Amino acid sequence: MKLETKSQGLRGTLKVPGDKSISHRSIMFGSIAHGKTEVEGILQGEDVISTMNAFRAMGVQIQEHGSRITIEGKGFSGLKAPKKALDMGNSGTSTRLISGILAGRPFDSELFGDASLSKRPMDRIAKPLRLMGAKIAGETDRDLPPLKISGNVMLHEIDYKLPVASAQVKSALIFAALQTDKKAVTRLVEKEKTRDHTEEMLVQFGGQIAISGKNILIPGGQKLQGQKVLIPGDISSAAFWLVAGLVVPNSEIELRNVGVNVTRTGILDVIEEMGGQVVRIHEDETNHSATLVVRTSALVGTEISGELIPRLIDELPIIALLATQAAGETIIRDAEELRVKETDRISVVTHLLQNMGAEITPTSDGMIIRGKTPLHATHVDACGDHRIGMMAAIAALLVQEGQMSLVGEEAIQTSYPSFFDDLRLLNSSN
Ligand code: S3P
Repeated sequence: MKLETKSQGLRGTLKVPGDKSISHRSIMFGSIAHGKTEVEGILQGEDVISTMNAFRAMGVQIQEHGSRITIEGKGFSGLKAPKKALDMGNSGTSTRLISGILAGRPFDSELFGDASLSKRPMDRIAKPLRLMGAKIAGETDRDLPPLKISGNVMLHEIDYKLPVASAQVKSALIFAALQTDKKAVTRLVEKEKTRDHTEEMLVQFGGQIAISGKNILIPGGQKLQGQKVLIPGDISSAAFWLVAGLVVPNSEIELRNVGVNVTRTGILDVIEEMGGQVVRIHEDETNHSATLVVRTSALVGTEISGELIPRLIDELPIIALLATQAAGETIIRDAEELRVKETDRISVVTHLLQNMGAEITPTSDGMIIRGKTPLHATHVDACGDHRIGMMAAIAALLVQEGQMSLVGEEAIQTSYPSFFDDLRLLNSSN
């Protein structure tokens, strides 16, 4: 497809789609709880549909009415053996979290996915789940999908220090821990604090969990109760408009109902550090959401590393673009996790931006970017990665000459199906 170039400014108000991480978890908790769960504001993206279809295949009744769904939960023991292998599509979150649920069920199951998912390491969940007694097998020593999970095991507690900062691994182990014996208590220690949506939703569904810094205790044998869940907009989707609003001249964008859970707002801290203007208004404390207003700003480079990384891990491709438009050097370190996302995002992002004329160098665990550089037209392949496709579309807005084109844009369906409609809306309202 041809991408819009030479933007004269992005202006207007948007409500970005529901948070992907919270959407997945609402379906999972709704399915393992007892009674009805009503979810408002769910993301209707392909990744979330993979999760929904997996639970339907396990006999859970889920009704959809646009962005509102209802789930009839019958507890862990209400889940039935799926008749065939579960298709996780492109979704690492679905695969890893559902594995934690399936590891403790009495039936056998199998999970598979697309070409990208088939390269994603599952040993990070398989190893600790095996320590809990699970029988789980993947391909090669990295336990790549397809994953085969055998039933008829009794899971037991572990005391486990996570070797990677990963909310997916933490969440898989929490789901497994809930299925251990009543007297068992699982202890997890995080490498860095990561998004805490699973912990928050467990409490909302009436579960027990004790959190102290990076230490988490989860008692076994828990029974959860269906709830009403209200999902805010995804800050990882809002990130594309935050960056577009900062770098495209003459822009002002209002983003309503954006989730601002502190484990996810690293990008706001980075923008502030770089001198960008983003104002938070209408904060809603109970729903962890706010309206964000962004305006075109003069930016300076910064360093992004350490405990900040898990708070903005999915935003790093679009932050790299932001850094090309900031004066001076931006250094991204401690982000080796980028190599095992939907693509190797260190390699794909640096190639893409180098092709557009940016000064960007890959390192083993991040990137070094020197700005500010003009960007020129190129041909981009999203390589099956939604966030690469969206970053390319925002970069194109800055191109002043020539035609910018994108293939593989269908990947964007996984997290933001209305992305190009929203782009047209903002770009045409000058
Ligand atoms: C997610 C956690 C992160 C993130 C992913 C969603 C989640 O992955 O990159 O898009 O919903 O738990 P890791 O846990 O692998 O860091």
